[in-house]
Amino acid sequence: MVSYKELGLVNTREMFAKAVAGGYAIPAFNFNNMEQLQAIIQASAETKSPVILQVSKGARNYANQTLLRYMAEGAVEYAKELGWEHPQIVLHLDHGDSFELCKSCVDMGFSSVMIDASSKPYEENIALTKKVVEYAHQFDVTVEAELGVLAGVEDEVSAEESHYTKPEEVIDFATRTGCDSLAISIGTSHGAYKFTPEQCTRDPKTGRLVPPPLAFNVLHEIEKKLPGFPIVLHGSSSVPQEYVDIINEHGGKLPDAVGIPEEQLREASKSAVCKINIDSDSRLAMTAAIRKVFDEKPGEFDPRKYLGPARDEMKKLYMHKIVNVLGSDGKAL
Ligand code: 13P
Repeated sequence: MVSYKELGLVNTREMFAKAVAGGYAIPAFNFNNMEQLQAIIQASAETKSPVILQVSKGARNYANQTLLRYMAEGAVEYAKELGWEHPQIVLHLDHGDSFELCKSCVDMGFSSVMIDASSKPYEENIALTKKVVEYAHQFDVTVEAELGVLAGVEDEVSAEESHYTKPEEVIDFATRTGCDSLAISIGTSHGAYKFTPEQCTRDPKTGRLVPPPLAFNVLHEIEKKLPGFPIVLHGSSSVPQEYVDIINEHGGKLPDAVGIPEEQLREASKSAVCKINIDSDSRLAMTAAIRKVFDEKPGEFDPRKYLGPARDEMKKLYMHKIVNVLGSDGKAL
């Protein structure tokens, strides 16, 4: 058993309470390799933003759980080395799908876990979430749960159809499970293709897809039912079109990739939404930078020469999200 406290990590309780009260959101960035982690920590340290390092089941299998734990421990020390005196870093399991997986993460030094039983019938979702909460809370590990279904594909999570969270269920769910935060479905989805062209309109000038707006009415109803309760938005990449263009110009093929407009995420950050999940945007930044080097310098074969620019691009992206979208800069001095 390794406690996250020994690793210098924190759980989400205090940072969420401050974020809800302060009208900003904490970035939850997925990582599975060193360059992503370096970029996340550099951006967070430079902006003094609390940050959630997220690991999905797929990432855990890809990178190895022991290595990831040491990377998170290293991240805390690296942040201090960069001059961030009191780093507020969470190591979080993204989309845990079983009690055993959540338990194993709690036992291995994670400070927060998500149990995603949203695809199960309501009572089963409650029972499994409650079981995880009871275990995790013994070690002061916080638990995120989910109600409602997001469409899209992400590692091992996929759903053909989404349905919005039902506001009439949230009080019962939060009370009976004891979860610390709740992921809701209001129109976001995982991946770089969040909407089909049929769901969008097209900007006549640019020809780009314009997605339908998020269901802010559902969010506001949930906020009214659970005042001050931390709400989480998954699937919140904005799929920056400049990265899509670079990828497509350098041999890639991402036609009609579309995400959530950043103004809507900024608006959500000011509400009870206190955690915003971003994975695809970092993948796009990395891929765009690497494709560009491969295309422009076909003789290059030193990984540092393409992973370095990829890291710089991701850092730029993370800083932009922190400062201009979520407003979490300067909240972990
Ligand atoms: P994106 O695919 O929009 O980045 O969402 C990531 C996510 O929600 C991780 O759980």
